[in-house]
Amino acid sequence: MTYICAMMSPEKKEARYRRIYNQISALMKEPNDLIARMATLVAVLHHKFDYYFWTGFYIYKDEQLIVGPYQGPLACQILARNKGVCWAAFNQAKPIIVKDVHQFPDHIACDSRSNSELVVPLINSKSEIIAVLDIDSQSFAAFDEIDAKMLQEILSLIFKL
Ligand code: SME
Repeated sequence: MTYICAMMSPEKKEARYRRIYNQISALMKEPNDLIARMATLVAVLHHKFDYYFWTGFYIYKDEQLIVGPYQGPLACQILARNKGVCWAAFNQAKPIIVKDVHQFPDHIACDSRSNSELVVPLINSKSEIIAVLDIDSQSFAAFDEIDAKMLQEILSLIFKL
């Protein structure tokens, strides 16, 4: 089990996210296609942090959260409505940081190796949540407010023209 995040200073972590922001920004070109952009964003993020174990989107469709582009082990395709961390972030319209998923009521365990999680809503220009970005870690307490804040900024790039 790794605790890479705990060894990274807040300044170093934020600086790394800023570099990733610039890289992803440069990649958000034509075609302006939602799935292509989601897949690109996930691929970059997943390989930049040792503590990311599963990185992907759940897309809101027909009142369901259905898996979208992701990197990591096989995951649940549909999340039972109003259960777990992804639905909580969707319903509360804000990022949710879970330091120990085993303590989270109704947590949906797609892979038993995950121990902490961060979910950030993807909000379009009409203020609608169209998906959530879900990141799991094998480390406990892998994510903090810096991850949440920087990922909100990075997610806004999906809608860059
Ligand atoms: N743990 C999530 C389900 C998705 S997997 O982590 C990939 C949840 O509780 O919503």
